[in-house]
Amino acid sequence: MSEKVIVFDTTLRDGEQSPGASLTLHEKVEIARQLDTLGVDVIEAGFPISSPTQFDAVRRIGDEVSAVVAGLARALEPDIDAVRKSLENAEKYRIHTFMGTSDIHITQKFGSDRYGKTLAEKRKKIIEMACDAVAFAKTFTPDVEFSPEDAGRTDIEYLIEVVEAVIAAGATTVNIPDTTGYTFPVEFGQKIAALKERVPNINDAIISVHCHNDLGLAVANSLTSITHGARQVECTINGIGERAGNASLEEIVMALKVRPELWDCHTDINTSEIMNTSRMVSGYTGMLVQPNKAIVGENAFAHESGIHQDGMLKSRETYEIMNPDAIGIGESKIVLGRHSGRAGLKSRLESLGFHVDKDRLKTIYKEFVVLADKKKEVFDEDLRAIMNDLLEQEDAYYKLDYLHVNLGTTTIPVAIVRIHTPDGEFQDSATGDGPVAACFRAIARALDIRQEFNLEYYQVRSITRGKSALGEVTLRLHHKGDIYAGRGISTDTIEASAKAYLEALNQHKRKLEMEQDPKNLAVEEHI
Ligand code: KIV
Ligand code: ZN
Repeated sequence: MSEKVIVFDTTLRDGEQSPGASLTLHEKVEIARQLDTLGVDVIEAGFPISSPTQFDAVRRIGDEVSAVVAGLARALEPDIDAVRKSLENAEKYRIHTFMGTSDIHITQKFGSDRYGKTLAEKRKKIIEMACDAVAFAKTFTPDVEFSPEDAGRTDIEYLIEVVEAVIAAGATTVNIPDTTGYTFPVEFGQKIAALKERVPNINDAIISVHCHNDLGLAVANSLTSITHGARQVECTINGIGERAGNASLEEIVMALKVRPELWDCHTDINTSEIMNTSRMVSGYTGMLVQPNKAIVGENAFAHESGIHQDGMLKSRETYEIMNPDAIGIGESKIVLGRHSGRAGLKSRLESLGFHVDKDRLKTIYKEFVVLADKKKEVFDEDLRAIMNDLLEQEDAYYKLDYLHVNLGTTTIPVAIVRIHTPDGEFQDSATGDGPVAACFRAIARALDIRQEFNLEYYQVRSITRGKSALGEVTLRLHHKGDIYAGRGISTDTIEASAKAYLEALNQHKRKLEMEQDPKNLAVEEHI
């Protein structure tokens, strides 16, 4: 009989660690709800001790969803306690604790003599600490996961010892991370097989894998692990995550679905929600999906060459291994026009995965009417864009209140901006080489931004069809080693640029506030 593979989604934790991908509380909650609709089994909602914002997000998500919610903790009591506190009202929750076990992690992160003088002593100490952490977590919840960080580069004999010890201490899931994306499928598969065969108490826990994509092998490593006994995969929507990202949820799930004969395993994912989820995550994180990305890329089901098109017309199966309906790609419907009512709008938004309460519907409807006046046809993508914009605005400190740009073929562009903040309004004007540059300079002058924010990346694309299509600007600002991403949407690309710039500044503002918050228990000790 087909066995179930548990889907552990870490979009809101590891995924959010993608450079520039920071999400607001409202965006996280909205994504968590959609992950619930998608049918993931476990949602890793964040790392509660790392900041009050993370703590609140984990708590809110714990209150909202029916999936098991997990919080991350180093193998330290205060971390574990923070997960417990953030999730104490949740019906069921998981504490996920971790500790580095490869020689390089042990010697570099546990260099101090208090962890032992020799490698052998340090290894022993780490097992002790890991078991103490698991036992402590177990006093709060029966559902405890342990990850030997950098397991991909951990000596197999030592890994076997660690895994046996943490299971004996009460871990119900042992997660084997390829933290650096270093291993190859054959090697990683052998590692999982060795654990399955040689850890005496392995059947008392679920084997999980967590693969990073530095060599483009995260999905292949995850699938090979299933062959060798893993029954949980940790993954993210669109494969976002640290550096080159994590294993992509949609690729693993669809591989299991399209080739059942290879694994005889299944997931409980409602695959027709994949596209909705992918678009929502891309919209809120500002991380565009590459067009040729498997499953969810814009070209994933597009057939360009004449031979392929001809074959497709004769039978889809000539060149298509899955039906686009299976992942929820329908024709983008002309949903509504300017005479459409609130009920129709609400119902369409809900079918795209958005949660629309009464208050929100009022605001969305206003935006919708403005857009429907400008455009005759409002498409699903327009509605997604309105929603993304709205959630960003709900949490924004800086909001664009007014923008006027003067330009012409023989004049120097001049921009005037007024920005609304809870502390007052700021207005200024500036010239620039072009209207967008003028606009960015006017914003910087209005907000008296003296520090350098370097514009690293700027892209405009049209979201939907037609002359009045919505334009989307995505940009990244680089400041003191950090990246702040912004995304703005409007039928006017200069206004979209101003919004994107302000959104990146909002991200910077949130980061400053977090750092200055005295409640912030900084993650100082990197164990
Ligand atoms: O990549 C990694 O090792 C992690 C752990 C915290 C599981 O993200
Ligand atoms: Zn990771």
